[in-house]
Amino acid sequence: MQTFSEPILAALARLTGQPLAQLKLERPRDPKLGDLAFPCFLVAKERKQAPPAVAAELAAALAGGLEGITVSAAGPYLNFRIDRPLLAREICSEVAIAGERFGSSGEGAGKTVLIDFSSPNIAKPMHIGHIRSTILGAALVRIFRHLGYKVVGINHIGDWGAQFGGLVVALRRWKGEVDLEGDPVMGLLDLYQRSKAALKDDAQFQAEAVAAYQELESGREGEVRELWRWVTEVSMRGFHATYARLGVSHELVRGESWYEPLLAPTLERVMAAGVTEISQGALVVQLGELDKSLKETPCLLQQTNGTTLYATRDLAALFSRWEEFGFERCLYVVGGEQKLHFRQLKGVLKRMQQPWEPRVEHIDFGLLLGPGRKKIASRRRGEVLVLDDLLDEVTEAAEKVIEAKNPALAERAQVAREVALGALIYNDLKRERIKDVIFDENEILSFEGDTGPYLQFTHARLASILRKAATNEDAALRSKPDWSALENAGEILVAIGRFGDVVRSAAAKAEPSELSGYLLGLARDVSTWVSSSDNRVLGTAGPEGAARVALVRCAKSVLGNGLRLIGIPTPEQM
Ligand code: ARG
Repeated sequence: MQTFSEPILAALARLTGQPLAQLKLERPRDPKLGDLAFPCFLVAKERKQAPPAVAAELAAALAGGLEGITVSAAGPYLNFRIDRPLLAREICSEVAIAGERFGSSGEGAGKTVLIDFSSPNIAKPMHIGHIRSTILGAALVRIFRHLGYKVVGINHIGDWGAQFGGLVVALRRWKGEVDLEGDPVMGLLDLYQRSKAALKDDAQFQAEAVAAYQELESGREGEVRELWRWVTEVSMRGFHATYARLGVSHELVRGESWYEPLLAPTLERVMAAGVTEISQGALVVQLGELDKSLKETPCLLQQTNGTTLYATRDLAALFSRWEEFGFERCLYVVGGEQKLHFRQLKGVLKRMQQPWEPRVEHIDFGLLLGPGRKKIASRRRGEVLVLDDLLDEVTEAAEKVIEAKNPALAERAQVAREVALGALIYNDLKRERIKDVIFDENEILSFEGDTGPYLQFTHARLASILRKAATNEDAALRSKPDWSALENAGEILVAIGRFGDVVRSAAAKAEPSELSGYLLGLARDVSTWVSSSDNRVLGTAGPEGAARVALVRCAKSVLGNGLRLIGIPTPEQM
């Protein structure tokens, strides 16, 4: 839409004397009023006039002056309507020329955004919370990249902490009793759960676990460090296999252990800033003066026994990230249950008067629940829900759906995998991230309604129309499009023109649902349009047919780009 908004804004700046950067166009509340709107309130305030009077005056001054654009005043608003043939020609050619880059911008040039996402814990398979973080984070990485930011996806693997003391002792005691060769990830989970139970009611086990963690933190080589290293390797292999299925990767895989050499300097730095206290033998930063609600929850940085905590490692990571990248934003895509943790971290930065503290954001999200808001269980393992099992189950179900819908499809297995991903990912991103997600296998795989497969199907349907048009005799593909044939596609074209704005807004709010909601609306409108007998694409000869084919091509391109930006594969047939 820039082609149209730029001359409008320039004319408004000239007429009102306002700086260009302050003038913003909106979407009219009712699309029948126009394609773009300018609210006159601010200008009216400045001029001490009534907004409707300003609107009327500006409308009169602009009349006839903007090529291909009709201006009208409605109350306090100025509305602009773009001539349909011009709109169709501009949007279709812009999309055709830009291709995958359509809607991108230079806003991120020279700026770095860090996205800490997925970040599972070793010795445990990825669970539900990590699923949401992985899907949301991967979508945000692509969205920011589309806007020209340098994006660094970071996997802050949980590979350090007191729990490893327990795991080491469990390995010593019960290694022989679990299947660590055949299924190491599940074998380790078993040991981890046993160690958790033992830590609760076995004093001997507890003492041994503390000693083991102290040994690990001492940095000495030996039995403990070797066990820890082995556990890390086995777990990372499992995670990588899962990421490959999801099509996800990170630029930096830096576990908590990576920050080990920075822990002592970080503690010194916080102490030197004069914000620490000793409370019951432990080193803490009090946050009550900053925020009353944090009065009872100071940030704990070092235990009485000298060991460090999750927060210590996150703080070390923050300083290291700031120094390495000088980030514009540092986003932590982590569930809402860690709210306190991130408030504490930001609190410590504030007390240390780090001016970049506002750039650190906790991108929190709701839970993933089963039908009836019950805890999701897996058919294979019941209580413990493992991301890989979930992927397997949805893929199997998708295979059945595809088999029933299109038994002749050549790449059935591949398409089923893609549809399963589409279902899972869209379900996760379709509402504001803070809301809980309900996972209902049958619902998310439906080809109709608010689902990933519906969007993928719409995209494949447009692809099929284009394939047929290309082989048709009267394909009209050689004709010059008659853009006036797209008179009734104005709203679709305006929506396509807004794509870049939607991506920008999704990035600003770190809210991929803005994009998924937009794509659903676009898919619905385009489906309705191509289904109408007035708009037959195939079999319409000449310039009229050419214009319709161009619209289908344009819509398919934008729908496909948008889906891939949020991580949803776009099969050409399904
Ligand atoms: N490993 C943590 C967990 O599973 C998430 C880590 C999030 N990132 C961070 N920098 N704290 O709960």
